[in-house]
Amino acid sequence: MREYLEIAVSAARAAGALQRERLWLEHDIAFKGESNLVTEVDTACEELIVDAIRDRYPDHDILAEENDYATLYSSHKWIIDPLDGTTNYAHGFPWFGISIALEIDGVVRAGVIYHPMMDELFTAVKGEGGFLNGGRIHVSFRAPLKNSLLATGFPYDRSWGNENNFANFEKFQLAARAVRRAGAAALDLAYVAAGRLDGYWECKLKPWDVAAGMLLVEEAGGEVTNHGGEPYSIYDHRIVASNGLIHEEMVGILKEQVEVQVQVEKKLDLNL
Ligand code: IPD
Ligand code: CA
Ligand code: CA
Repeated sequence: MREYLEIAVSAARAAGALQRERLWLEHDIAFKGESNLVTEVDTACEELIVDAIRDRYPDHDILAEENDYATLYSSHKWIIDPLDGTTNYAHGFPWFGISIALEIDGVVRAGVIYHPMMDELFTAVKGEGGFLNGGRIHVSFRAPLKNSLLATGFPYDRSWGNENNFANFEKFQLAARAVRRAGAAALDLAYVAAGRLDGYWECKLKPWDVAAGMLLVEEAGGEVTNHGGEPYSIYDHRIVASNGLIHEEMVGILKEQVEVQVQVEKKLDLNL
């Protein structure tokens, strides 16, 4: 596992160096849909990370955001977000990172999140704890929810999709001390792991947004479930991660909205 982690760390650092270097230069911006941007740095970083992994492990599978890779049916799958926080990046807002995880036989075993502008490297190996720049991290001990600092995000299809997270946002704004929307899900999760945020929730995320972060939160003593409070899979799209102490309160709020959502989806089905 050490060797896997080393490869992920060096690839994440190399991508981070490139992101720092190019941040305030002009970017080639393309669109994946109406508001989902992709810059030349997203694709360059994905290439760099995938090449580093393929050089060493040519028979491992790759699941990454910007390209489809042929399935090799390996027990090992690397799950990569080469640049999490692309909208921030494209606007020169220095809050973004790299997320790399390794899933073995369906279980996330190693994860790395790198925050280039702060030079902060978050790492975790299943069963061995969560680390920041080599030092052990732990989730916060803050409770109840009304004293907590939370984070969230909104999906790219928020103006036309069937789930936009606005109702939950309003409820948590009233129930917690404050809610932040910084724009990089992987960093939100790393911050829950490091005790800088007490909880985080979002919907419509992809495995590359959450794989490394989920492991980090769990390894730092936190809890990660879906919005119904059930065990979370990185292939689910509704995540809630917390220090554990406020988890029940968070799920209590999120559950109400899941029920509303089920009704909305039923209605949509009936109209088809
Ligand atoms: C996005 C960011 C954002 C979250 C979005 C993600 P990207 O990832 O993590 O915080 O709210 O839903 O898709 O597109 O910048 O890699
Ligand atoms: Ca992302
Ligand atoms: Ca991305």
